[in-house]
Amino acid sequence: EKGEYRHFMQKEIHEQVRSLTDTLAGRVDFDEGTIRLPQLNLTPELARRIQRIYITACGTAAHAGMVGKILIERIARIPVEVDIASEFRYRDPIIDADTVVLAISQSGETADTLAAMDESRRKGATLWAIVNAIGSQAMRIADGYIAMQAGPEIGVASTKAFTAPLVDLYMLAILLGDLRGTLPETERKRLVADLRLIPDLVSRCLDREAEVVQVAREMRYIRNILYLGRGINMPIAYEGALKLKEISYIHAEAYPAGEMKHGPIALIDRDMPVLAIAPKDPWYEKMISQIEQAKARGGSVIAVATEGDERLPALCDHIFWVPDAPWMLSPVVTVIPLQLFAYHIAALRGLDVDQPRNLAKSVTVE
Ligand code: F6R
Repeated sequence: EKGEYRHFMQKEIHEQVRSLTDTLAGRVDFDEGTIRLPQLNLTPELARRIQRIYITACGTAAHAGMVGKILIERIARIPVEVDIASEFRYRDPIIDADTVVLAISQSGETADTLAAMDESRRKGATLWAIVNAIGSQAMRIADGYIAMQAGPEIGVASTKAFTAPLVDLYMLAILLGDLRGTLPETERKRLVADLRLIPDLVSRCLDREAEVVQVAREMRYIRNILYLGRGINMPIAYEGALKLKEISYIHAEAYPAGEMKHGPIALIDRDMPVLAIAPKDPWYEKMISQIEQAKARGGSVIAVATEGDERLPALCDHIFWVPDAPWMLSPVVTVIPLQLFAYHIAALRGLDVDQPRNLAKSVTVE
């Protein structure tokens, strides 16, 4: 039941402190600085043999996969491609016995994702899945899986089943890096120790909900908006834009910020607000210059910024503050105000947040 909340989506956004605590439980040994993912059936021999990983998924799950690509490449030095399942299944991808195909799915029943898994199986890949629904088809057909600890998700717009796989992928990258010897022990211990911060960081984002509501109130009648991000937060631009369009029916478009100059900057004027994801991560300076360019063209800018940032307030019209987080975990934090923003705009518009038009929770047809 919804309890004190008006909609399941809002309840599920707030459940993320718990779901992320559960995600760590039993998997992280903080004393040893190690990760355990027994259901993945990942042997040291397999870890060393992997030549390539394809992550395949749809929608929000694919956005989690885009973050996972950066984490696995950075930490385990394995090439990763992210493929939208409906494309992957018909592309005749190059797969052999040293390829891992990793499907990500909340429902574990998405037709395109399951078809991509079947196709990969036929070609001889090792099949992994990160799945929320226990006993679902994706979980059953995989050689190994990570069970997301999101708990049942009822709102059609996925929220807690986005942040759970982000942390699952971070843990997977550490485990792979450790087994392949690409991750030095001191570095591994530091990355594992950072996991302990997550529930509190997310809780501090949620504490700022009232500030997000204020901006949502002011912006609820916009017709268009551009979401920009770079590096590990580029997928968060896509995810933030998807959340807004699916429940508020506002046209939101996402771009890797560096692509602006190759065309989309022509869109920016006073009627095209920009939402820039600009925490203190390694791409911060690049985001600042992007924001300056948007401002110079009259656009109003909302930034997701790290608490204590002294440059963005002077540049931006609104700020969604997030606590300082280790950069590899920052997407878990930066997405929270964007979930809240989409939720409150839709709620203020009086829309059916949990059952948006034309959408189903699980897409079991092609
Ligand atoms: C967006 C959303 C969809 C799903 C997509 C994949 O909020 O819910 O984009 O993420 O349909 O669904 P699963 O994860 O069940 O495979």
